[in-house]
Amino acid sequence: MAFTFSRGDFPADFRFGAATAAYQIEGTSFGRVGSTHWDTFAAGPGNVVNGEDGRVACDHYHRWGEDLDLVRDGNFDVYRFSTMWPRVMPDGRTVSAEGLDFYDRLVDGMVERGLSPNLTLYHWDMPSALADLGGWTHPDVGKWFADYTEAVIGRIGDRMDAVATINEPWCVAWLAHFLGGHAPGIRDIRAAARAMHHVLVAHARSLEVMRSAGQENLGIVLNFEHSTPASEDESDVLAAKTYDGIYNRWFAGAITGGAYPADILEVLEPHMPQGWQDDMAAISAPIDWLGINYYTRSIHEAVPGAVWPAERAVPGDLPKTAQQWEIYPEGLYGFLMRLQREFTGELPIYVTENGMAGADPGDAGLVDDPARIAYFDAHVGAVKQAIADGAPVKGYFAWSLLDNYEWAFGYDKRFGIVHVNYETQERTPKGSYLAFQRALVRD
Ligand code: NOJ
Repeated sequence: MAFTFSRGDFPADFRFGAATAAYQIEGTSFGRVGSTHWDTFAAGPGNVVNGEDGRVACDHYHRWGEDLDLVRDGNFDVYRFSTMWPRVMPDGRTVSAEGLDFYDRLVDGMVERGLSPNLTLYHWDMPSALADLGGWTHPDVGKWFADYTEAVIGRIGDRMDAVATINEPWCVAWLAHFLGGHAPGIRDIRAAARAMHHVLVAHARSLEVMRSAGQENLGIVLNFEHSTPASEDESDVLAAKTYDGIYNRWFAGAITGGAYPADILEVLEPHMPQGWQDDMAAISAPIDWLGINYYTRSIHEAVPGAVWPAERAVPGDLPKTAQQWEIYPEGLYGFLMRLQREFTGELPIYVTENGMAGADPGDAGLVDDPARIAYFDAHVGAVKQAIADGAPVKGYFAWSLLDNYEWAFGYDKRFGIVHVNYETQERTPKGSYLAFQRALVRD
């Protein structure tokens, strides 16, 4: 099965990539890595499917050469990866030469293969030493993150094509501190409000460090989820609007306009750190590009009598992925147009993640994944349409290069375009990988 698009349908400078994240693939038991809050969270009862963690993952720490070959041979231009904070600073503060050496070799490997490195500095691996002090709720987290940024950029910044500070602040802050679904698994409005602000302060401090070091092409990666009201009832419309506010408008509004949305701020303000207003100018300092991760839509209804945000998601009737996420490519088109209109104007946008968990067989041999091919085809088609309609989208990166540690879902949900056999660590390209390889051939 092939894609209906090819490289030639896109502007000459449009770039295709494949993405991963350190904790999801490297294996924290290889090399010197400090504990992260994900190790602790995964060990807690009921937090992660089968209590699985990132200790072995895809053993990318040893197999990175083979993995980079796969990115190159798939005809991708960009490799989006992240550095692991507790590998660079095992105790959260002291730099490990061994950790930086690993990333130095990895980046050289990308350059040797003609791949453009797109770095994300934080993809969720807060060192336990800092998490134990309060992590994202601690007022010094911006300073800690700036020090980590300086260490990483000082070593590999010279070869980066682009750098993002933080991946998906909604997950870092709200999912992890209000909904309790990600590490550190807190359910507290005060912790959540602080994290919602501090994660953006950390972005700002990191950006400052990189700007003064002369680092170029800087951005942040936000996740967007289309929210639909369950009915036309005013209360359901408000429920969907609140969800959109916490998930989408909070971060996009702060980064691009220096202001939080009034409807959400009204409730979070009493819990925010004092003097938060003074940080808004730095939070909205210009970036060079915005990364958007898009997967699905969700449907929301009001829960009468419940405490704010007094809404819950209800199942919809669209086809779903193995993770029960509805497949809704129109949402990606919608965000690309809406962002330009409401928030980002002509700022270059990259779709830094998009993909689906499939019911892929666990054995070796060719993994046939027509549903994933159809998913990618529809979403790349949405990008193509948005470009035709004037959206400044400059790239599209598939999530993910490899099957990997899918956070609270453990290894159960497979997002890879390359299959990983977790017994043998053998990599097998899936049909979707071969479809990209064909579609992205260069003339
Ligand atoms: C977004 C996250 O950045 C990534 O780590 C995760 O695996 C995918 N979504 C799929 O859930």
